[in-house]
Amino acid sequence: MNETPVSSNNNGAAANGAAANGALIRLQAVTKVYGTGIAAVEALKGIDLRIGQGEFVAIMGPSGSGKSTCMNILGCLDVPTAGTYFFQGRNVGRLTQDQRALLRREHLGFVFQGFNLLGRTSALENAELPLIYRGLPVKKRRVLAREALASVGLSGWETHTPAELSGGQQQRVAIARAIVTHPKVLLADEPTGNLDSERSREVMELLTALNRDRGITILMVTHEPDMAKYAARQVHFMDGLIDGRSTEGGA
Ligand SMILES: Nc1ncnc2c1ncn2[C@@H]1O[C@H](COP(=O)(O)OP(=O)(O)OP(=O)(O)O)[C@@H](O)[C@H]1O
Ligand SMILES: [Mg+2]
Repeated sequence: MNETPVSSNNNGAAANGAAANGALIRLQAVTKVYGTGIAAVEALKGIDLRIGQGEFVAIMGPSGSGKSTCMNILGCLDVPTAGTYFFQGRNVGRLTQDQRALLRREHLGFVFQGFNLLGRTSALENAELPLIYRGLPVKKRRVLAREALASVGLSGWETHTPAELSGGQQQRVAIARAIVTHPKVLLADEPTGNLDSERSREVMELLTALNRDRGITILMVTHEPDMAKYAARQVHFMDGLIDGRSTEGGA
């Protein structure tokens, strides 16, 4: 993987901080190419994006425009082919794989379209999973997982498995799992894609409350304009680039 930083400045940390200029997240000229030769697909063609602490951003655009590719980079699940990603002023491309994994565990939470819960595993155990990776003792994990389930309105549902929960409830367990570590950023890729409109509205109201009350920065991919309206800002992808329909943010 090419993780070469763009900056050739020796004065690493200070230069990075200045480049990020206070934004929580900053992408500079980020590209992503999948495959090689004639099979190469240029999924991102030069993304510049700044996101401030506490923003709620909807990421929109047609299928194949690069939304998930960009989310994977922001989530430290993948690295750009070229360009630079700053998180809190740190150049993510200069981190080792372990440091990136740590950044992900400490600061980022993930919610997916398909919920991605473990079947035959209770809501409580699903919600506490990220804490197991952090090595927390079981009692502490249980307390925090109960709190997280309560904050998504699922007190009393701790022992239920995914099969015993509705789609909306499963997505709320997934959100509890994402916030149990108190992340700075929640990355949600089509969180309402598998839900009916009433359940979608509940999930969006929950995300809005987490953003408003806890100051969690939320980046949410959606195809639905009605869902994007919950966000204060819209970033519109088209053919691997951010286009002019995007609205400005505070960063
Ligand atoms: N792992 C991969 N290997 C090869 N090509 C990929 C890979 N992932 C994505 N692509 C290609 O990169 C482009 C952007 O894909 P991406 O998944 O980011 O789109 P998207 O905007 O999330 O689309 P959708 O709305 O359908 O989820 C597409 O042309 C896709 O086929
Ligand atoms: Mg996608």
